[in-house]
Amino acid sequence: MADLDDLIAQVEDEGLRSQLKARIDLLTRQMKFGLVFERHLPESIRAFNAIPRVGDTVQLRADTAGGDEYFVERLTKRRAHLVSTTTGESLDVTPRQLVVVKRFGDPAFPALRPLGEVRRHPDRPSHPVICGENFHTLQLLRYLYRGCVDCIYIDPPYNTGAADWKYNNRYVDEADRWRHSKWLSFMEKRLSVAKDLLSPTGVIVVTIDEHEIHHLGVLLEQIFVGYLIHTVTIVHNPKGTGKYNFSRVNEYAVFCIPDTGDNVIQGLPTDEADVLTGKRTVIHQDQAEDDDDPGDDSDVEELVDADEAADWPFPTDERDDWELRHARRRGGESSYRHQRPNSFYAIYVNPTSGRIERIGDSLALDDVADMNEVDGLVPVWPIDKEGNERCWRLIPSSMRQLLDEGRMVLGQPSSDGRSWTINLWYPKTKRKKYKTVWWSTQHDAGTHGTTMLHRLLEQRNAFPFPKSLYAVRDTLLTVVRDRPDALILDFFAGSGTTLHATALINAIDDGNRRCILVSNNEVDAKMTRKLLAKNHLPGDEHYERHGIFHSATKPRVEASITGIAPSGAPVEGKYPDGRPLADGFEENVDFFELVYLDKDDVRDGTQFAAIEPSIWLMAGGVGRRNVSDPAKAYEIADNSNYAVLFNRSKFATFKRALAGRSDVSHVFLVTDSEADYAAMCSRLPDGLTTSMLYRDYLGNFRINTVEAYR
Ligand SMILES: C[S@@+](CC[C@H](N)C(=O)[O-])C[C@H]1O[C@@H](n2cnc3c(N)ncnc32)[C@H](O)[C@@H]1O
Repeated sequence: MADLDDLIAQVEDEGLRSQLKARIDLLTRQMKFGLVFERHLPESIRAFNAIPRVGDTVQLRADTAGGDEYFVERLTKRRAHLVSTTTGESLDVTPRQLVVVKRFGDPAFPALRPLGEVRRHPDRPSHPVICGENFHTLQLLRYLYRGCVDCIYIDPPYNTGAADWKYNNRYVDEADRWRHSKWLSFMEKRLSVAKDLLSPTGVIVVTIDEHEIHHLGVLLEQIFVGYLIHTVTIVHNPKGTGKYNFSRVNEYAVFCIPDTGDNVIQGLPTDEADVLTGKRTVIHQDQAEDDDDPGDDSDVEELVDADEAADWPFPTDERDDWELRHARRRGGESSYRHQRPNSFYAIYVNPTSGRIERIGDSLALDDVADMNEVDGLVPVWPIDKEGNERCWRLIPSSMRQLLDEGRMVLGQPSSDGRSWTINLWYPKTKRKKYKTVWWSTQHDAGTHGTTMLHRLLEQRNAFPFPKSLYAVRDTLLTVVRDRPDALILDFFAGSGTTLHATALINAIDDGNRRCILVSNNEVDAKMTRKLLAKNHLPGDEHYERHGIFHSATKPRVEASITGIAPSGAPVEGKYPDGRPLADGFEENVDFFELVYLDKDDVRDGTQFAAIEPSIWLMAGGVGRRNVSDPAKAYEIADNSNYAVLFNRSKFATFKRALAGRSDVSHVFLVTDSEADYAAMCSRLPDGLTTSMLYRDYLGNFRINTVEAYR
């Protein structure tokens, strides 16, 4: 307020001055409704990869509690002469002892430095896993995925007072009397950026316990205007905890759901409804081998158009109660021949009449599928495009019954006319609304969080309080069950449970959901003391490898996707449906570190290589990243779906080259002129997603500024 009084005092017109003063007095006397808290300054960034220069603001690397900031006054290879920005005292140290600090308002240029990958399937998009401060990573993600994210799931620090999080590089503990307002400032900034990432039907879920639930609720109401807020109670610790009065067994998942006037949460299939109330303990498990199990039904593109399927086997007015599903099992779970040997048999098709004539018998496991015609009928086997032997949804006797009832529908033939997709008519699955209290043994964070992590990493206490894998799976399913291509984000990733749960869901229905994880690389206080005592400083490899990202997030993601533990042994144990953890998942992952580029390098265009991973992610992370050469006129990625035009004068050649690459979906045009960009876009074929890249890239990737913060 003192600032405002000073400003008003400078107004020369006396009348205007007193009017302004009166208005402001009125405003300050009005009661505020809602959450009132001290907004703390945004955090500063410690940019370990930046080389200190004269004029920079720096801190001492060994000062892990944040510490004083200094101005670099003189610098040689061996000596840095510093002046404290608060006391004015000077200090001489070696440059190696310093870390550059970017304060709020200093623009920073982020890039993603690759840290490795896991490749298990050539055709699936990649899950990006980013090591970085989430506020700045979110600002980069906002550029890449504004309005695209279907589900944000976060499990932020609960602010228990046990120094479980840092603000401005300092732990916030019980003694900090600004504890709550710092937490709210920290969350407000991140949630405001996160909101911009959500698609129009995107949902954010924040888990929390009683320490901050009430503050969080009001904060979410303030930020997520136009959203409905629902709170689900999850019993995550059935044993109970708490010193006085009650034994607490639950925490909360607060859902912010856009108020579209319709259900965004699609409801739980009735056959799974008991799971979340603990009456049944297994979800998605195929209950009866060889039974009439509807299984999954995701790959809708290949289904026959229901309205064109002739001869409905039900009265016309019942049309809305029926749907077509694939006859072949498609999910990763229980869909292979060896898992259901009785459901591997031929379905015989008459190629002339286009009718299914009869159902063969199950084939013994060691017999080979016979592709030859029998009596002029072509056998169709449940073999997928990659040649994997899968199985039909039903055993032969049940399939024959459906054939008799006219519930089998033959789809389009393959190009060689030797195979067809086959669909089955099923009564539509009924859905029930989710209840707001979930009590399931699968949500026990001890067994399915800590013990699961122990199995994956072969190490106890690798990470404190990971979530139950199945609690995260069930939470995500409320939003992405019917969104097989959903984009999911967790920017407080911790041990990476959210990506593991996403892979598990994809395996159920062969979905292509992608999950972006972000975690910092915090080293806990005890380990920090030990490392400093051995002279390992933040930024050193020896120090950083003990941080959360390198010791928990990355190895957990690797072990869950590959099925191989860090020692090289197969991961022990099974998922509830019997699938071994050692199978891993057919998913791809790319690991990155958020680094800050030097402004001068960015400006002269030499940093395109550093920016390319971001561009690749923006285009969907498909195939493999290119290493483009900005000295060329243009590049069309060999093994991915994006192209970049560097030299505007070669637009015509670029356009011709694009015509030969129907797989390219994203085009980046380098120009500083909006008009030029619009003109080029108007000449490109419809259906391409285009983006403008400024020649110096500064306009694209500037973060940490007042504008970026808004
Ligand atoms: C409660 S844990 C999440 C646990 C996770 N759900 C799991 O199942 O493993 C919160 C995580 O957020 C990370 N974190 C805290 N502040 C962060 C920040 N500013 N940027 C990135 N990550 C942060 C912490 O390192 C911690 O691992």
